[in-house]
Amino acid sequence: MKNYYFGDIELIVCDDYEKMSKACADYIAETVNNTPGAVLGLATGSSPVGTYKELIALNKAGHVDFSDVTTFNLDEYYPIAEENDQSYHYFMNDNLFNHVNIKKSNTNFPKLDAPDANISASDYEKLICASKRVNLQLVGIGLNGHIGFNEPNDVYPAETHYEKLTESTRQANSRFFKSIDEVPTHAITMGIGTIMRADRIAMVVSGENKAEILYKTLKGDITPRVPSTALRFHRNVKIFADAAAAGLIENGTVV
Ligand code: GLP
Repeated sequence: MKNYYFGDIELIVCDDYEKMSKACADYIAETVNNTPGAVLGLATGSSPVGTYKELIALNKAGHVDFSDVTTFNLDEYYPIAEENDQSYHYFMNDNLFNHVNIKKSNTNFPKLDAPDANISASDYEKLICASKRVNLQLVGIGLNGHIGFNEPNDVYPAETHYEKLTESTRQANSRFFKSIDEVPTHAITMGIGTIMRADRIAMVVSGENKAEILYKTLKGDITPRVPSTALRFHRNVKIFADAAAAGLIENGTVV
């Protein structure tokens, strides 16, 4: 494991995906153990799957207790049925919540049965604000630098909102659907402002195809055209990367 610092961001480079997942899970578990009634922001995508597996193992071994933990997920397709196996509700139950001692009533997502998407988004923002602070927000990163579903934009959206997905995001996510036509066109996502209010932010990033966006996130211009660059304004960010994702940072080449 190697550590690099980019301003206030700590980049932790691990040999492979498994080690990266273990390091990130240990950090989340330590936060939960040291914070009574911890509030976690959680993410979906393939990047955090290993982290969730490790958290399940830690929970089963008695090293982390979720009984008093509250969670807010970053985003959700809209509209989508909760029971659709591509909904982020389904993903979280399947990859984490069904296997640890969390109370499902303490897990939160944008509501899918609100009168409309904008109401669902503003209700979710209010719910996050009404809770105490998010102690740790876990995020992945899209190939275009999106966090949650904050796509490249002229501004950093302040609050949870309804977002049109870019064609490149729909294309990237089509690997989980039967065809591109089934990939939703819109989603509700925490805003960059919502995410930045968390006390701690942890990002997981793996694979050679993420090397360029990780490089831009840490070393490129800070711009809403690369939404992940907003993280450089936060005081407590750890990025857990595998060697392939960190290739351009470490060697100037993708390994
Ligand atoms: C989706 C999610 C993001 C996630 C991104 C990358 O679009 N909304 O939260 O970070 O995909 O996913 P993956 O980790 O599968 O590359």
